[in-house]
Amino acid sequence: MEASDVSPVQRRTFLMVMAAAVGGVLTAAAAWPLLRFLSPVGAGDAAGKVEIAREQVPVGAVHFFQHRGRPAVVLQQTAGQFIALSAVCTHLGCVISWEAAKGEFLCPCHGGRFSSEGQVLGGPPPSPLESLPVVVDGGLLIIG
Ligand code: FES
Repeated sequence: MEASDVSPVQRRTFLMVMAAAVGGVLTAAAAWPLLRFLSPVGAGDAAGKVEIAREQVPVGAVHFFQHRGRPAVVLQQTAGQFIALSAVCTHLGCVISWEAAKGEFLCPCHGGRFSSEGQVLGGPPPSPLESLPVVVDGGLLIIG
């Protein structure tokens, strides 16, 4: 079969099928991050707890980690007093950083500021950072 043996209808059908396939793949690729962002945490993750060695969080320091697939942070404010928070800014979801010199969290996206307890100090965030329960078990911090 030579190229000239293909009728215009067959060629048009082939091109339409290929265009639909490519369009479907591109749509799926574009939609995947949005669907993943909007999907709730899976039931298997609901009871997820994270164990962190206590020595990884010296007094006045923070330790970032993943909790249920999302960034989180634990801080030892004073000796033996641990605070764990979601590290996701409540404005538009950027990941906060720790400003040790100021003793507060800063969101790099729009300048949101949070206290070491997660309360809003300034900027556009509408609500405090989500608090996570912390249990000290010997040399371990059990968070979540
Ligand atoms: Fe944090 Fe806008 S996303 S201040």
